[in-house]
Amino acid sequence: MHEPPTPPPPPGEGETDPVTRIAAALAGPGWCLAEAFLSPAETGALAAECRALREEGGFRHARIGVGASLRLRPEIRGDRVRWIDPAAPAPALRPYLERIERLRLALNETLWLGLFEFEGFFAVYPPGGFYARHLDNFEGARHRLVTCVLYLNGDWAPGDGGELRLYTDGEDPARRVDIEPRGGTLAAFLSERFPHEVLPARRDRLSLTGWLRLRE
Ligand code: OGA
Ligand code: MN
Repeated sequence: MHEPPTPPPPPGEGETDPVTRIAAALAGPGWCLAEAFLSPAETGALAAECRALREEGGFRHARIGVGASLRLRPEIRGDRVRWIDPAAPAPALRPYLERIERLRLALNETLWLGLFEFEGFFAVYPPGGFYARHLDNFEGARHRLVTCVLYLNGDWAPGDGGELRLYTDGEDPARRVDIEPRGGTLAAFLSERFPHEVLPARRDRLSLTGWLRLRE
C-alpha cells in the first residue's frame, strides 16, 4: 500500500503569501503544492500562450541527457517542449516570473541556497504521453536545485491521467503521492531529493516546468 495523496500540512499556518509558504515548505518536508498559485485568468493566458506557440510549430520532442549524450528517448519521455526566454518574456509569463523571482529571493534569504536564475519551458504531453521515473539532474550536472511545475489545464478532471507521481522517500517506492495537474496549481520540490514520474495523460496536458538553479 502506498500512502494516500495528502500533502504535508502547510508549514507557516496562517501564512497568506504563497511564496513565503512555499519557502517554508521547501525548508521543511522539501516539497509542496500551492493551489491557485496563479489566478484562473493568469493561468488561462499562459495556456493560450502555450497553445499559440504550439500552433506556430515551436515545440520539439523533449530529449534526455546533456551535451553530446542528448537524445530522443520516447520510451522514457513523450512530451514536447518549448523553452522560454526569460530575457524577453511574453506578457502572459510576467505574473508567473515575478512570483518565481520572489520565491528565488526568499529561498536565498532563508536557506542561503545561492539560486542564480530560473530556466523553464512550456511542455505538452499529448494523449498517451508520459515521463518515466527520474531525477531532474542528468549525469552529474547538479545545478538544478528546485523544480517548479505550474499546471495549465483549467478544466482538468479526474480520469484525465497525467498525474505527477512524487516519491517522497527515494529509498521506499511505496511512499509516494500522486498530484493532479490542475490549472493554476504549482508543485515545487528539491530537485535532487525526489524521484518522480508523469503518468500517461489521456488528453493534451499543458504545463510550465522549470528550475531555480545555480550558476553553471
Ligand atoms: C520534468 C518533469 C513533471 C510534471 O519535466 O522533468 O518531471 O508534472 N515534469 O510535468
Ligand atoms: Mn522531472
